[in-house]
Amino acid sequence: MGDDSPNDIPRHLAVIMDGNGRWAKSRGLPRKAGHRAGAEAVREAVDYCNEAGVEFLTLYAFSSENWNRPKAEVDALMKLLERFLKTKAREIAKKGVRLTAIGRTDLLPDSCRDELNKVIEETKDNKALTLILALSYGSREEIADASRQIALKVQSGELSPDDIDNDTISKHLDTAEFPDPDLLIRTSGEFRLSNFLLWQLSYAEIFISSKNWPDFRKSDFQEAVENYSRRHRRFGRV
Ligand code: IPE
Ligand code: IPE
Ligand code: MG
Repeated sequence: MGDDSPNDIPRHLAVIMDGNGRWAKSRGLPRKAGHRAGAEAVREAVDYCNEAGVEFLTLYAFSSENWNRPKAEVDALMKLLERFLKTKAREIAKKGVRLTAIGRTDLLPDSCRDELNKVIEETKDNKALTLILALSYGSREEIADASRQIALKVQSGELSPDDIDNDTISKHLDTAEFPDPDLLIRTSGEFRLSNFLLWQLSYAEIFISSKNWPDFRKSDFQEAVENYSRRHRRFGRV
């Protein structure tokens, strides 16, 4: 990919799946129904990426801040996650998808976390798409955790302060083994990052869709990727 030439398919696609509540509200349904419809839309996202040859798909499913929602909604989301992991994740695994997670997954309810760890273990050798679920994820917390780990290495003499560079930080984030996202999609027409991958999105292209997440189809992914492929990424150069 040249400095000023159009892009191929994004290697890493990241999505802020927003608008489940509004999708439900516009239909006179409870927010929970929107989250259920949102979970269905994940399958479409995975199929699109698998077929298009995207290597990594990161889905923002639950933020650190989402813990502050009413308990009933948080409970419903956790139940839905567990069901997703028990059923849909297994279907996805059959398609060769490797599932993994970033975020403070230790804060998830035990039953969710156990199911998550099981799926991660079961799919770890899969070679198609890598699906990364951001769960109880907050970018600032992730950077703070990385800083703490680096500080401990300095304290123990394993690392010299002079050797800390961008790469040191990247290697201590939850996303250490993944390339930075090339394209970020946010649905429901909101223009903000909401504490998602602040470090990793430094040079990502951004695509905002006015559609709510449950309405976001394969054709919408196609549109976003086509739009991306026509852009000129300059990375600060001329
Ligand atoms: C995104 O939809 C799902 C999560 C944040 C868990 P929202 O629940 O934020 O839906 P809106 O933004 O209220 O419509
Ligand atoms: C971002 O959506 C988090 C997820 C999609 C999981 P929010 O709905 O929580 O973000 P804000 O509150 O509108 O910034
Ligand atoms: Mg929202």
